[in-house]
Amino acid sequence: MIRLTKKAVLMGCLLLPLATQAAQLSEAEFKAQAKQKAMQLGKTLKQNLQQAVKAGGLPNGVQVCKDIAPAIAAQLSTDGWQVGRTALKVRNPQNRADSWEKSSLMAMVKGLEEGLEPGALATVHVDEAAGKYRFMAPIMTGGLCLNCHGASLAEPVKEAINQQYPDDEATGFAAGDLRGAFTVTYQAGE
Ligand code: HEC
Repeated sequence: MIRLTKKAVLMGCLLLPLATQAAQLSEAEFKAQAKQKAMQLGKTLKQNLQQAVKAGGLPNGVQVCKDIAPAIAAQLSTDGWQVGRTALKVRNPQNRADSWEKSSLMAMVKGLEEGLEPGALATVHVDEAAGKYRFMAPIMTGGLCLNCHGASLAEPVKEAINQQYPDDEATGFAAGDLRGAFTVTYQAGE
C-alpha cells in the first residue's frame, strides 16, 4: 500500500510539469489561433494609436507606439506563443526579420504585385519534429499610417522619430503598400 502511494505521488510530480506544457496542435488549430492573436495585436495597437493621436497629436503617437507596441505583443506572448511585427524595412531594429520571415515578406510583395488580396497571403511553416509552428499575415499601409511611415512627414513627427529611432528605415511607404507583417510563433512543449 505504502509503496503504491509513494509511486502515485512520484508519478504526480513527474506528470504535473508535463500537463502545464504547451500542447501539440494540428496545423489548422495553430493557424486559427495564430490568426486570432495577430488580429488581436493589430486591433489593440490601432485603438491605442488612434487614442494617442487624438489626445496628444502624432508625435505623442510615436511615443505611445514605442511604449505600447512591445508591451501588447508581450502580453499576447504566453504559453509557448510569441507574437510580434516585422518588416523588410524596420523602424525598431528589434523587429528585424529573420530568414523565414524575409522570404515570407518577399512572397507577400510578389503576391500583391500579381494582384492577390492581402487576405490570401498569410504564410504557415510547421516543423513537426521540433514542435515549432510559424505564421505570418500581411500588414498593409493605410491613410493613417502615412503620417509616420509615408514619403513626407511633418517636421515634429520626423523629429520625434529621429530622436527615438536614429536608424529608422520605415518611411517612404504609399497607401496600399505592404508595410510589414504580423509574425506568430508557437513552440509546443515549453
Ligand atoms: C504616430 C506614428 C505612427 C503611426 C501613425 C503609425 N506607426 Fe507604425 N510604427 C511607429 C513606431 C514609433 C514604430 C516602432 C514601434 C516599436 O518600437 O516597436 C512603428 C512600427 C511599425 C511596425 C513594426 C515594424 C517596424 O517598422 O519596426 C509596423 C508593421 C507598423 N508600424 C505598421 C503601421 C501601420 C500599418 C500603420 C497604420 C495603421 C502605422 N504603423 C501607423 C509609428 C507609427
